[in-house]
Amino acid sequence: METLPAFRAETIRNDFPALHQKVYNKPLVYLDNAATTQKPSVVIQRLSDYYANENCNIHRGVHYLSQQATAAFEQARAVTARFIGAQKAHEVIFTKGTTESINLMADSLGRLLMKNGGSVLITGMEHHANLIPWQQLCLQHQGKLLVTRLNEKGEIDLDHFAELLKQGPVIAAFAHISNALGTISPVAEMIRLAHDAGVPVLIDGAQSIAHCPVDVTELDCDFFVFSGHKVYAPMGVGVLYGKEEWLLKMPPYQFGGEMVDQVSFEKTSFNDLPFKFEAGTPNVGAVLGLETALNYLNRIGVAAVGAYEHSLIEHALAKLSAIDGLRVVGQAAQRASVISFLIGDSHPYDGGTLLDKMGFAVRTGHHCAQPVMDIFGVPGTIRASIAMYNTFDEVDRLCEAVQRCATMLT
Ligand code: ALA
Repeated sequence: METLPAFRAETIRNDFPALHQKVYNKPLVYLDNAATTQKPSVVIQRLSDYYANENCNIHRGVHYLSQQATAAFEQARAVTARFIGAQKAHEVIFTKGTTESINLMADSLGRLLMKNGGSVLITGMEHHANLIPWQQLCLQHQGKLLVTRLNEKGEIDLDHFAELLKQGPVIAAFAHISNALGTISPVAEMIRLAHDAGVPVLIDGAQSIAHCPVDVTELDCDFFVFSGHKVYAPMGVGVLYGKEEWLLKMPPYQFGGEMVDQVSFEKTSFNDLPFKFEAGTPNVGAVLGLETALNYLNRIGVAAVGAYEHSLIEHALAKLSAIDGLRVVGQAAQRASVISFLIGDSHPYDGGTLLDKMGFAVRTGHHCAQPVMDIFGVPGTIRASIAMYNTFDEVDRLCEAVQRCATMLT
């Protein structure tokens, strides 16, 4: 067995109740972690405890429960900031998820920086959440969405990225890890190139946060976004990290309670960071669940998770590639978390449906990244995406099942 001695996926699995069920009377093999991860018992318990004993609105009451919930919420912010290496807790803004974080950015940074005819730089491997908000911003300003080319393996063409930077985009926004191809982008190099050109950088960490250590201070990115539900936390919470100097300059995104200082019928002054960007009642329970999930993952160690998952992916790639007629879409040298493939000429839904009936939860389709599929000239793929609780045995069973599909479909 190729498992790393220090990493015990089997033990970790015991913490995740959803993994121990059968579907169609077959043991569930959950390989749709890029869409959402399962939740450990400690996170489920944290949500339950919050609603049973602590439920309260925050930053609004002098009474005991409100003060307790407020302190817990702000502690969660500090834990989240530490997890990503942010120096100041108020550089962490809680949102609903990656999508809302990027919409906030496109709206607020757009109003701050975008002029008619301006541009935004993304890459060819973005999912819709890191494409459409920028595309719409460009359309509003008769501007241009600049898209960095990928090579045939699904890797960033760095020369093209550097070339496009010369057009002076208001921001360069790109995925750390592609949700459709698994490519790990050379983000440190891309940040350096962008900063040399005077362009701020947003990293979409939706697919990296659970798979590799992230240190926003070391990376020196200006913004970093991720969703809680892809890192073992509840749905409905996400993060926008921004450097203080940017967040101070940026106008608010939504208006309402909590984000204000003084309000009259004539005018409003806005609250300090981070509250300026957190209008309305937040999802307190989910934020506390996020804190619990990040503490849980920290105890295991994200670097150890990344190393274990790397060996799982290598194992899966070697076995899948040996299947006649199977085509892996995206062949990046640096990759994590995701394997996209097609079985012969069959439609991805056919393989996905067969795999489902055998107990394998994989995603089929365009993975909210239609332009990536267009680049590769495919309607979609079958995507197996792993997490720290997946085992070599599960990967072996997946490969056997895919082999059976190949026999039926080709
Ligand atoms: N972006 C999510 C995925 O890749 C939903 O499945």
